[in-house]
Amino acid sequence: MVADEPRFGDGGGPRDADGPGRQAGTDGGVAVDGEVPVIAVRGITKHFGSIQALRGVDLDVRRGEVVGLVGDNGAGKSTLVNILSGALQPNGGTILVDGKAVTFGSSLEARRLGIETVYQDLSLAPDLSVWANIFLGREETVKGPLRVFGWLDRRAMARSAEADLERTRIRIGSVSSLAGRLSGGQRQAIAVGRAVAWGSKVILMDEPTAALGVEQQERVGQLVRSVCENGVPVLFISHNLPQVHKICDRVVVLFQGRVVANLRPAESSVDEIVAWITGAAMGGARSGL
Ligand SMILES: Nc1ncnc2c1ncn2[C@@H]1O[C@H](COP(=O)(O)OP(=O)(O)OP(=O)(O)O)[C@@H](O)[C@H]1O
Ligand SMILES: [Mg+2]
Repeated sequence: MVADEPRFGDGGGPRDADGPGRQAGTDGGVAVDGEVPVIAVRGITKHFGSIQALRGVDLDVRRGEVVGLVGDNGAGKSTLVNILSGALQPNGGTILVDGKAVTFGSSLEARRLGIETVYQDLSLAPDLSVWANIFLGREETVKGPLRVFGWLDRRAMARSAEADLERTRIRIGSVSSLAGRLSGGQRQAIAVGRAVAWGSKVILMDEPTAALGVEQQERVGQLVRSVCENGVPVLFISHNLPQVHKICDRVVVLFQGRVVANLRPAESSVDEIVAWITGAAMGGARSGL
């Protein structure tokens, strides 16, 4: 289910594609000659009444990258993801998909372009089964053996859902169980499995491992890397900084609605990332921005 975009070539990924990135730049992009980001934002602003959640955010996600998006509670991470996924509309700025400006009237419009999201609140329908949640809203997209004479084959969908979940290695029991009866970690696995199964352009994950045990967190980390290596970049939000440091090619730090740092884990420690998150790093480095 992973669609490739041949225009980007095989890229090789930013680990070896483009030398040292800009450290602590004021935007979330790193210039790579001739490569169009799969998804990018420029100057995104968003307010909720008097609360300014995003104050002119620039961010790029390129093919071959897992980009970490980190920041303190309330920094604006979920607001940005919700804008990229079409769930929220920005007050200003531009979203670019493959270099073309787009507007999303709804999350369905983003999903049609292959942008899949694991929302922080997971967004599962509690009264539907596990497999129905995985196929929720997909009726028009489902093709091939899952369709029998124009109808959706429920048993085949259940089997396919089992395979999607198997990849997360989180035990669900039966895919016929109601999502509302599952544990937080099991629900998280469904959301991750669903995004990985359907994301063909980019996958946005807003704290996909917050409810998971250590082994399962590790497994989701491996899944994120393998999805990315198979051609679908991932924007990964997490407060688990050692994991972010381990699996991400780049880490973008949001502080009070602004991008304050754009770091490469190969060149920055977890402590440095923490210093940007808390604002401690800003005094000294601001002059160099
Ligand atoms: N629907 C909303 N209505 C009003 N204010 C909101 C809404 N959503 C977010 N905010 C505010 O916008 C700011 C950014 O919130 P956001 O959820 O994006 O933070 P976050 O970085 O995802 O934090 P966390 O790590 O706690 O998930 C916060 O001040 C929050 O209170
Ligand atoms: Mg959030």
